[in-house]
Amino acid sequence: MSIRLEGVYKAFGEVRVLEGFSLEVEEGETLVVLGRSGSGKSVMLKHIVGLLIPDRGGVWVDGRHVSELSTEELYLLRREVGYVFQFAALFDSMSVSENVGMGLQRLERVSRGEIRDRVEECLELVGLEGFGDRLPAELSGGQKKRAGIARAIATRPKYLLYDEPTTGLDPITKAVIDRLILRMSRELGVTGVVITHDMESAYKVADRIAMLHMGQRRFLGTPEEIRATEDPVVKGFIEGRPELLENAS
Ligand SMILES: Nc1ncnc2c1ncn2[C@@H]1O[C@H](COP(=O)(O)OP(=O)(O)O)[C@@H](O)[C@H]1O
Ligand SMILES: [Mg+2]
Repeated sequence: MSIRLEGVYKAFGEVRVLEGFSLEVEEGETLVVLGRSGSGKSVMLKHIVGLLIPDRGGVWVDGRHVSELSTEELYLLRREVGYVFQFAALFDSMSVSENVGMGLQRLERVSRGEIRDRVEECLELVGLEGFGDRLPAELSGGQKKRAGIARAIATRPKYLLYDEPTTGLDPITKAVIDRLILRMSRELGVTGVVITHDMESAYKVADRIAMLHMGQRRFLGTPEEIRATEDPVVKGFIEGRPELLENAS
């Protein structure tokens, strides 16, 4: 079971973004997906929760064909797959607690007291205890990212998808987020997909690393394997050496 993308094609008008992208995430692992800006990483991730539907190919989560789910089934799926958006995407007019508890409000079986406890527990997990009454505008960039993670874990998802969780953060805050990702994996047993172009973060959190390039999967392997790769496209990317890409196809 777990997450599987099979030969996914996706274009927006003339712009072909995914051209037969396949990937299988193993239960319990943290899989990092690399790729240049605009290569389609966010587009790929959105397919997993049905925010986008493939033109061709398919996406399965625990055997469920995402594009064939009803609205109700999709809603259930999104509780099992937490999504940490690239730009935190918190609601400005709602407090941090309200943002974190948002996904729980709609669960009929959870009482108000339980929501409060769960929100507090999630804030504590991300090191934001006592910040519940603040507004997002009163948080730093790193705190916003952590609030986004707290919101994503509030429904106790089996999967967590992180879209560039450390981009734009200072090195210390970055390290805090990396540790948090590891903690979600080790303490909560969450299966994770992390999009990043930060190699330091990638090596810290990844069990396996994939690279998306020209709409397809260019690489898949362990951190050791990617360090040893001779593929100029992959090597050029991870070592930040554009000259390696010039003669590559
Ligand atoms: N909803 C959309 N409508 C049209 N074009 C889109 C849409 N979403 C993404 N794109 C285009 O798809 C390409 C890949 O985008 P994206 O997945 O966001 O890249 P990244 O790898 O940086 O996350 C870009 O050219 C982007 O402009
Ligand atoms: Mg993106």
